[in-house]
Amino acid sequence: MPICTIDNIKPGMVLGADLITPDGRMLLPRGVTLEERHIELIRKMGISEIDAWAECTPDQVDTARIEDYVRDFFLYANPDNPAVLELYRLTLERTGQAVCNGWELPDTDTRRAVSVEHLDDIFLKGLGGPEQCVSHELELESFPDIYFRIREVLESESGNADKIAQVVSTDVGLSSKLLKLVNSPFYGFPSTIDSISRAVALVGGNELSTLALGVSTISYFKDIPRELVDMRTFWRHSISCGIFARILASEQQGLQSERFFIGGLLHDVGRLIMFKTLPYASTEAMLFARENSIPLVEAERETMDFCHTDVSRILMREWKFPESLGEMINNHHDPMNYPNPLEPAIIHVADNMANAMAVAEGGMYVIPGIVDGAWELLGLDPSFMGTALEQYERQIDQIMDAFF
Ligand SMILES: [Fe+2]
Ligand SMILES: [Fe+2]
Repeated sequence: MPICTIDNIKPGMVLGADLITPDGRMLLPRGVTLEERHIELIRKMGISEIDAWAECTPDQVDTARIEDYVRDFFLYANPDNPAVLELYRLTLERTGQAVCNGWELPDTDTRRAVSVEHLDDIFLKGLGGPEQCVSHELELESFPDIYFRIREVLESESGNADKIAQVVSTDVGLSSKLLKLVNSPFYGFPSTIDSISRAVALVGGNELSTLALGVSTISYFKDIPRELVDMRTFWRHSISCGIFARILASEQQGLQSERFFIGGLLHDVGRLIMFKTLPYASTEAMLFARENSIPLVEAERETMDFCHTDVSRILMREWKFPESLGEMINNHHDPMNYPNPLEPAIIHVADNMANAMAVAEGGMYVIPGIVDGAWELLGLDPSFMGTALEQYERQIDQIMDAFF
């Protein structure tokens, strides 16, 4: 259910969960319609956010329009798949809530083409491929080596928490982002972690190095022009996918779920290389996807003859990313054709869920669809999607803050 900050709470909103005070006392039960006096009480108790939504009646909202709007995003998803159906239902509910909270459904004009004539690609269609994109990019700039320096310490015999902390601390930007992240609800540690050495001790060197890899990759791509792609929207999708992947992986026995956060975070990294080397063609693909209501990955294949996972396959190898991370990223659109489908299937489902979350936020791309067998592989009941969504909504904003 939606988390509402204190400044946005209005009389008439309905509580989505029991409201508990910081010292554990029940303040108001789930289902209460908030009145002015309740809001005052919540304020007095120092509670900064609550689980609440605006009550709305059918005549206030054109439910048929909402359904039409949401259905458009699911044109590519198999309606016989129970997981897709549940995701559709949740998206409909979430979009309805957003409309009740004052969000206006975007009209189709927002999908209109923009001029991208001035953007130069490194090659014309058919005269190059993913290899050229990656080699051109790597000639210009090398990957920040902080991750590899952390790995080196981790793998050396004398590697200990203090040494790892020393290496991480040489990068001030990385250190502060890591601290914000370990202090976010993502980890849920009861007290504030104020030093990198404490973070290493609590989170573990391996996990911290994986997080460092994610943070370094984000920094590497910070200079992509805004006119080309809204990077905040791009990373919100990526972080959302990471959060869902971590939640789904934590339901599996024997998987280290944190690795999946980074897998989700970087799943579309090939697209970023395409933005840098083929800005014109990438923009064309985005417009083609919007105008024809097809998933972006299909539009890439249609307009360029290859897609972002073809690029990431080469990039991950060149950057020497851990192999298992590369595999979940490179196979996220086609997990069931990969010999060990579970890890890419988790990213695949998480990507679909992340795309569905964007529907009520003005997202422009059709949901790629869950391939047969991917959800079943996870062994979860479709109702788990709702549980995952609740957990997601508690994490997304603070994790976005930690990164940007
Ligand atoms: Fe993708
Ligand atoms: Fe994606």
